[in-house]
Amino acid sequence: MAKKKTVYVCQSCGYKSPTWSGKCPECGEWGTFVEEVISKPTNKVSFSWINASSEKPTPITEISETEKERYLSRIEEFDRVAGGGVVKGSVSLLSGEPGIGKSTFLLQLSEKLSNYGKVLYVSAEESPQQISMRARRLEISTPNILVLANNNLEEIKKSIEKEKPTFLVIDSIQTIYLPHIESAAGSVSQVREGTAFITNLSKSKGITTFIVGHVNKEGSIAGPKVLEHIVDAVYQFEGDRGHNFRILKALKNRFGSTGEIAVFQMEEKGLKEVKNPSLFFLSERPVGKPGSVIYCSIEGTRPLLLEVQALVSRAVFSTPQRRAKGIDANRLSIIIAVLEKELGYPLRNFDVFVNIIGGVKIKEPAVDFPVALAIASSYLGKPVKKDIAVFGEIGLSGEIRSVRLEEMRIKEIEKNGFQAFSLQNKNNKLKLLKEAVKLAIEEQQNGGSYRKPVKP
Ligand code: TYD
Ligand code: MG
Repeated sequence: MAKKKTVYVCQSCGYKSPTWSGKCPECGEWGTFVEEVISKPTNKVSFSWINASSEKPTPITEISETEKERYLSRIEEFDRVAGGGVVKGSVSLLSGEPGIGKSTFLLQLSEKLSNYGKVLYVSAEESPQQISMRARRLEISTPNILVLANNNLEEIKKSIEKEKPTFLVIDSIQTIYLPHIESAAGSVSQVREGTAFITNLSKSKGITTFIVGHVNKEGSIAGPKVLEHIVDAVYQFEGDRGHNFRILKALKNRFGSTGEIAVFQMEEKGLKEVKNPSLFFLSERPVGKPGSVIYCSIEGTRPLLLEVQALVSRAVFSTPQRRAKGIDANRLSIIIAVLEKELGYPLRNFDVFVNIIGGVKIKEPAVDFPVALAIASSYLGKPVKKDIAVFGEIGLSGEIRSVRLEEMRIKEIEKNGFQAFSLQNKNNKLKLLKEAVKLAIEEQQNGGSYRKPVKP
């Protein structure tokens, strides 16, 4: 028998190498190489709007605009994130950490979508009994959701051909396998080929499909990036498992904008939409305590008030600790450096911890000033002025820069009964960080109960 040809594949980025190595030269991850048998990719992904036989291009002005048909799930928050409902025949990936609520969400979504047609829920992780238990907990009782517990894609295909569902849920891509590919379920080859297989099948039959994908420890979808290119939309579930808020984000959407978020609350009977997340995120805020700042972020087109907390405490070890949850650690280092230089705080002698409450991950630079203010407030042991909310990017020379959609932020801040902290001074110039921190932090009153500023 001819020897099988194998290749070593990085399970983090999909890089291929003929030899094993400890560190992936592409993504720098350690211990991610797994030997896989080389198999010819059997599936070419085809999109319904791509015509392989056409060679003649069309002038852009002559292409007629077709409105995509959409299913409204009536879970309003989700419909908005999806760009006005799920597009008929589209394939979406729903990613998130284990236990965050992906299966719960998709079962609730299945119930809503089952009004339009049959849903085939393929579970390769849980038994039909477990799914039925969850359905009872969610008070779902429609015969229009069919459950199939199977992880062999060839058999799943047969079932799809027989049942002809309108909607398909695959839970999850990491646990199903194609029998002709020899590597284990969850490997890069299986995940990639499996997604291509499902996408092909769904596109050829016009089935609207949702695929669950687990994320690895860095928060990206396990498997190569190519997975994200195959599907039409990628949604991500985020949140703190210690808290009950869950945030659904569109990371990619061929039929809508990305960056939109939906906020849910995990309750006894499943996920509930949160209509005013700003109030919700601030509900447990400690009032009048140093280190707590209200920040107005913009996620997609939605302004959201969040609490930023910082704790500055004397360093225990010679290298001070810097920990950031919800913001980029590099960004935190820059902010700390600017605070040291411009305000003269000896932060090299202090540990600094920053947290965005509620498990929200912030990518926009407008979080800089709120973070700097929270650190300053904790360092000085003085609270930030009551009821102000802030935003603003910090430049390396200590200036605060304006950010996008300021008007919208100010409106949201005022709507919730707070006051927007102006980034401009009397001369209509942007404030410097030094000036802004001084103005935003409560003046110490005589005999005030605030603790003394910490000295190194
Ligand atoms: P699940 O949907 O199984 O997560 P995933 O598919 O992403 O792994 O959700 C798991 C958690 O949600 C579990 O800890 C229990 C909790 N939960 C509720 O709090 N309320 C509910 O109604 C349901 C169904 C689950
Ligand atoms: Mg699950």
